[in-house]
Amino acid sequence: MLQVKNIEKYYGSKNHVTKALDRISFNVAEGEFIAIMGASGSGKTTLLNCISTIDTVSAGSILLNGTDISDLGERDLARFRRERLGFVFQDFNLLDTLTIEENIGLALTLNHSDSHTVQNKVQEVSEKLGITDILGKFPYQVSGGQKQRTACARAMVAGQSLLLADEPTGALDSTASKNLLEIMTRMNHEMGATILMVTHDAYSASYASRVLFLKDGKIFNELLRGERNRSVFYREILNVLALLGGDISDVI
Ligand SMILES: Nc1ncnc2c1ncn2[C@@H]1O[C@H](COP(=O)(O)OP(=O)(O)OP(=O)(O)O)[C@@H](O)[C@H]1O
Ligand SMILES: [Mg+2]
Repeated sequence: MLQVKNIEKYYGSKNHVTKALDRISFNVAEGEFIAIMGASGSGKTTLLNCISTIDTVSAGSILLNGTDISDLGERDLARFRRERLGFVFQDFNLLDTLTIEENIGLALTLNHSDSHTVQNKVQEVSEKLGITDILGKFPYQVSGGQKQRTACARAMVAGQSLLLADEPTGALDSTASKNLLEIMTRMNHEMGATILMVTHDAYSASYASRVLFLKDGKIFNELLRGERNRSVFYREILNVLALLGGDISDVI
């Protein structure tokens, strides 16, 4: 569903150029759960921002379901993002002045769905994520874990095909992190979400079916989980991180 072809990203002007992404290529099949790891500054967020159309590549191309995202104009891009992509950020990105229900339904409302359809779809996804009891509350009235589940519901409510998450467990304690990772696994297995998750944390990455390791803007290694259980996969991820070198405490 996603094809990343030889992309490069440079920041800065002629005299001072940072090469954030250096000829990165990979494909993502529908139904995969991919984690992207690497030390600070290795290009993880840049890669995610290019795929999410928040940023543009300097060279190469990115195709989602056959559409080259660099060919889309401003209006088409905004619609493309709302309809095809779901986002889960570390700081939730919920709107404080909207209720949980309104936050979840926002993409549908912006697409001019009628209120009955919005209500039904919000209800359906909220049941799956166990948050029907907080729909009438505002973000400041719910816990961090509930906010993150709200963000997950919002990311799926419009039938978005690709879910992008940048450090989704970064602001959560270990129990809430585990809950969120289990929810993301259910979204992946039971609700058909394809997930691309950036994380520093080997434990979080061990929930994925494949891990891509970035180093200096390049893909350094790739691990497939296959039939192995999560704790075996976790140890393998730690081994690759050790190979990656640098400041390991920074990536674990
Ligand atoms: N807007 C920007 N302008 C200039 N340089 C940038 C910009 N964004 C990122 N960079 C540089 O690009 C490189 C990759 O940054 P990126 O944010 O993708 O790293 P990261 O892997 O997400 O790091 P972290 O784990 O700290 O979030 C870094 O050298 C960074 O300084
Ligand atoms: Mg980052």
